Order: sequence, then structure tokens, then C-alpha cells
Amino acid sequence: MVVIVVGLCGSALLYPSRAPAAVGEMVESLTGANPNPIQLERPVAPAQLSAVAQLGKKIFFDPTLSASGRQSCASCHSPEHAFGPPNNLAVQLGGPSLSQQGYRPPPSLMYLYRQPNFSIGPDAGDADNAPNLAQIASQVSGVARAQKNAGVAPAAPAMVPQGGMFWDGRADTLQAQAAGPMLNPVEMANASEADILAKLQRTQYKKDFLQLFGSNVFQNTTLAMSEAMFAVARYQVEEQSFHPYSSKYDYWLEGKARLSQAELHGLRLFNDPDKANCAGCHLSKPSSDGLPPMFTDYQYEALGVPRNTQLAANKDRSFFDMGICGPFRTDLKDQTQYCGMFLTPTLRNVSTRKVFFHNGVFTSLEDVMAFYNERNTAPQKFYPLGADGKTEKYDDLPKQFRANIDDKDAPFDRKFGDKPAMTDADIRDIIAFLKTLNDGYQVSTR
Ligand code: HEC
Ligand code: HEC
Repeated sequence: MVVIVVGLCGSALLYPSRAPAAVGEMVESLTGANPNPIQLERPVAPAQLSAVAQLGKKIFFDPTLSASGRQSCASCHSPEHAFGPPNNLAVQLGGPSLSQQGYRPPPSLMYLYRQPNFSIGPDAGDADNAPNLAQIASQVSGVARAQKNAGVAPAAPAMVPQGGMFWDGRADTLQAQAAGPMLNPVEMANASEADILAKLQRTQYKKDFLQLFGSNVFQNTTLAMSEAMFAVARYQVEEQSFHPYSSKYDYWLEGKARLSQAELHGLRLFNDPDKANCAGCHLSKPSSDGLPPMFTDYQYEALGVPRNTQLAANKDRSFFDMGICGPFRTDLKDQTQYCGMFLTPTLRNVSTRKVFFHNGVFTSLEDVMAFYNERNTAPQKFYPLGADGKTEKYDDLPKQFRANIDDKDAPFDRKFGDKPAMTDADIRDIIAFLKTLNDGYQVSTR
């Protein structure tokens, strides 16, 4: 009997906007099948990689393009780890002797072909002569963030930062991004573009360059760099393993896999706007035309993640990684309403990661969930004591910006000492659900 109750209230929560479940749906959700299977639209895989993408693949895996001679893109974006970091270091090591710490954990490179460009507000970026970002930001500084309770229309238009690559959105395209790591002193650490081109000309695939881009390509530094970066970007777009949509959840959406009762319960909580409310930011519904859900709304939020004292950069107590407002991007440094905001990452393949959030402060999904659940109700579990002997909540952001941190959306809307939004059993089930987002699920053919 208890099971029936779960089926009844559950179906409505799977998709909050739907009408109450019909009897047939109830029975099906008891079996773990999706009551409303849909057809997902996956990108069409080319029969084989184009010649440019094949060149990009060689560059992606080539350690000789780094100052150390031992680091390629794949060292930090490992194909065996959803193109994310292969180890549990908070940040990766790079530089000429692979001894310098980076500042942030490498994100997964999967599904980036759908990442929109960085913009602020619903219309920014539509017009060719759009005002610059700082102008837009200052016009809308009063309405920096929208409430994330799915389904409730915000009173004011949501003028929020969205899209872009990196944790702070500072690059727009895969092509624009790729030169960054090659020149970054704590990553592949080349001294200059000329340095990179000299290395490229010592590779076996130099001939591919000449063949594809002409025998003069290396005489023009700008051209040669841009072709190389274009090739790396083509590889990431054409190679199907960057966007297979082969998770158990994808197959469940299509009616080809069943979720366990724990996974289903986790999904309901994930979507429940009053409880975990994860789907408020990590969108879980496919689009109406069958585009698979990306588990991010591509927007930025300040969650008040605790300072990671293991990072070398954080030894300097006056250093703060504040995301959109700097220090790694500088164009919005005066827009202090965005200080502390980082991009909402996709949760696809998240359980293959060993470090979480923009500073790698947590090393398990259990720790991440405890933070979401108890940041407000028991902050002493996550933050150190301040000089005044009180818990220093939001210790990784200067005091004057701490009002930017989200305490309106569930599960963050609970107050100190309140009952947390989730029970231990709820958390276990949400983690079980998160594990259904890993690609490579084998559908049973029987
Ligand atoms: C030493 C480790 C390291 C190496 C080597 C490296 N990256 Fe990264 N990558 C990172 C980190 C760290 C970030 C996030 C940086 C940030 O947010 O400021 C990142 C971010 C990215 C992003 C943006 C992803 C997103 O979700 O926003 C792309 C794309 C990317 N790297 C591609 C590459 C390519 C292509 C190469 C080789 C040319 C490469 N990376 C080499 C560490 C590395
Ligand atoms: C208000 C928007 C919002 C809500 C609600 C939300 N998240 Fe997030 N999530 C984010 C943002 C933003 C980040 C990155 C924050 C950072 O690194 O500073 C993030 C990061 C994460 C990460 C780390 C991913 C990585 O690659 O490091 C996990 C896991 C995660 N969220 C799971 C959840 C779960 C589970 C829930 C529900 C309990 C949830 N989130 C609710 C916005 C949200």
C-alpha cells in the first residue's frame, strides 16, 4: 500500500507541470519504467572524423606541445574520466616541471557543443551591436538573480549572467579557449604562440597541417594558431564520445531502461522545488522537441562554497577567487553584484569526478550533499571559526559581497537550527539518481 502512495504523489513530481497521473502511469512507475517515454534527439555522428578533426585529435593527445613535454589536454581532461581530471587532486599540477598548482579543477569537456555564449539578461547577445557587458550589468544591478523554484515566473525579468566556458564564463568558443591552456604558466606553460608553433613543426603531423592549410601556414603565426585551435575544436564537436547521451537516465527517458525505486525516489526529490530543488538549476527535463536535458540552466550562482585551504593560491589570505568578478576575468570586476558567482556545471557524469565545485573543496558526493542540506542549518560543519570565535559563514568571499550568496532557493532557504530539507535516506537516493547520469549504460536487450 505504501508503494501506491509513492507512485501517486511521485508521478506529479517527476514533472511538476503535468496533470495528475493517470492510473496507468502509477502502475508503470511502480515498475521503474518512465510512464511517458519520449524520443531523444542526439547529434548525428559522422561516419568518421574529418581530416581537420583527426588533426585536432592528435594535438589533443600530444604531450610534446607542453613545456614539460609530459602534459597534453588529455592529462587534465582524461577520456577515461568523462574528459575531466583523472585523479583526486583539488587542482591539477602543471608548468615546466609539473609542480605548479592550478587554481580550479578542470571541468568535464563533454557536451560543450551546446554551451551558449556568455551573456547577461534574456536578450543580451541577440543584436550584433549589443551594448557591452559592463553596461548591461550596471543597468540591471538591482535584479541580479532570479528565484530558482522551477515553474514560478519571476516578477522581474531574470537579468542573470549565463553561458560561456570556464567556471567564470570568460571564453565563448572551443576555438577561442584552446590557446589558453597552452600558454597558461601553470598548465602547458608555453612562453609564446611562436613557441607552440615551433613545437607543432617538430611533430609527425606537421605534414597534415601543410596539406590541410597550405604550405605557407606556419609563416603566419596568427593563422597557424587559429587553424590549430580550430582543429582541436572540430575534434571536440565531431567526436561522438564527447556527447553520447548514453546514460541510464537517457534510456529511461526513452522507455528503454527502468530506474530502481531508490533512483526514482532520488529523481522525485531532485525535482521537488520545496525539498532538494536540484532541478531548479540543474535542469532534468528534455526540451519539448526531444533535446536531452543538460542538467544545467547555464546560469551563474553564488553558493558560498567553503574556502579550500589546500590551494597554494589561498595561502595568501587576501586572495579570493570570485568567479565572474575576477580575478581571472577582468571585464566585470566592478559589477560586484556578481562576486562569488560561478557557472552551474552539468551533472552528467558527475559521479565519475573525485573533486567537486570550483575550488575542489569536496571530495565526495556525500560531502556535496551535506553542504547543500546543512549549509544554513548547521554552518559550523563547513566553515571555520572567525577571529570573533563565531563560525565564519561564506569564508571564501570578502565580507562585503556575502549578500550575493543564494539563501532564497531550496534547499538553502532553511534557517539556522531548522530541520534540513533532506534526510539521510533522501540523500542516499539522490546520489543513486546522480549515478544514473553516467554515460556508457548498457541497455538490456532482453
Ligand atoms: C593542467 C591541466 C589542464 C590542461 C593541460 C588543459 N586544461 Fe583545459 N581546463 C583546465 C582547467 C583548470 C579548466 C577550468 C579553468 C577555469 O575555469 O578557469 C579548464 C577548462 C577547459 C575548457 C572549458 C570547459 C568548460 O566546461 O567550461 C575547455 C574547453 C578546455 N579546458 C580544453 C582544453 C584543451 C583543448 C586543452 C589542450 C590544448 C586543455 N584544456 C588543457 C585544466 C587543463
Ligand atoms: C541555485 C542553483 C543550484 C541549486 C538549487 C543546486 N545547484 Fe548544484 N551547483 C550550482 C552551482 C552554481 C554549482 C557550482 C558552484 C561552485 O563551484 O561555486 C553547483 C555545483 C554542483 C555540483 C558539483 C559539480 C562539479 O562538477 O564540481 C554538484 C554535484 C551539484 N551541484 C549537485 C546538486 C544537487 C544534487 C542539488 C540538489 C540538492 C543541487 N546541486 C542544487 C547550482 C545549484
